[in-house]
Amino acid sequence: MVRRRQIYEGKAKILYEGPEPGTIIQYFKDDATAFNAQKKGTINGKGVLNNRISEHVFTLLSNIGVPTHFIRRLNMREQLVRQVEIVPIEVVVRNVAAGSLSQRLGIEEGTQLPRTLIEYYYKDDALGDPMITEEHIACFGWASQEEMHDIADMAIRVNDFMSGLFAGIGIRLVDFKLEFGRLWDGDYSRIILADEISPDGCRLWDMVTGEKLDKDRFRRDLGGEVEAYQEVARRLGLLMEEGAEVTTVLDLDKHRKKKGS
Ligand code: TMP
Repeated sequence: MVRRRQIYEGKAKILYEGPEPGTIIQYFKDDATAFNAQKKGTINGKGVLNNRISEHVFTLLSNIGVPTHFIRRLNMREQLVRQVEIVPIEVVVRNVAAGSLSQRLGIEEGTQLPRTLIEYYYKDDALGDPMITEEHIACFGWASQEEMHDIADMAIRVNDFMSGLFAGIGIRLVDFKLEFGRLWDGDYSRIILADEISPDGCRLWDMVTGEKLDKDRFRRDLGGEVEAYQEVARRLGLLMEEGAEVTTVLDLDKHRKKKGS
C-alpha cells in the first residue's frame, strides 16, 4: 500500500494529504485526552463513532446552508474534507453552565443560562488554550472583524440547529466547541466550519436522567465512554439495528486493524 503523506497529527485525529489538491483526509483515532493532554487514554471504537456522528451533523448543517469543510466519508475512520487555514480560535457555545464556566464563576452545573454564551479560546497547547476576548483577536490579528461576525453568526445557527436536533432525541445540548477555517479562492477567503462535531467536543446530557453522553465520562473517570458515544449514534439513527450494527462495525474495525489494512 502506498503510504500517504501525513500533514499533521493532533490529539484525536491525523490529517493526510487528500487525493486532489485542496483536499485533506481526516483520520479519527481512538485516542482521548483531557485537561490539555495531561490525562491520556484510549476509547476503543471512538474514532469510528465520531467519524459517523460528525459526518451526520456536518451533512445536516450543510443542508440548512451552513458552509462546512466536509466532502464525504471515505471509510469507517476517514473522511475527505476541504483544506482550510484553521483560524487559531476555539469557539465555545454554552446553553447550560458546566465545566470551566461553572468552575471559573461558581455557577452550579446544570443551571440554564439566561442567554446563549459564546466564548473564545486561543488555540495554543503550550499555553493551555487560554480564554481570550474579541479585543485580543482584533489586537493580534487572529481574525478580522468581518470574519468574527461570520463566525459568531454561524456559531449561533449551529447552536440553534443542534439544540433542536438533540432535543428531538431526548438530549440536552449543554455546550460545545467549534473550529472554523478560511477557504481560499485566489486572493479571497471565506469562513467555513471545520474540524469535527462529536461527543468529544460537546456536552450532551440525557434529558430525563441527566446522564452524561460525552467525553466528560472520560474526563471525570465515570466509565462507559464507548456505550455513551454509541447511544448518541443510536439515537441519531446511525445504527441500523439497535446495538447490533455498531458491534459489527467495531468488530470489523478491530479485524481490519489486525490485518493491518
Ligand atoms: P469547558 O467547560 O472545559 O471549557 O468545555 C466547554 C466545551 O468545549 C465542552 O463541550 C468541551 C469542549 N472542549 C473541547 O472540545 N476542547 C477543549 O480543549 C476544551 C477545553 C473544551
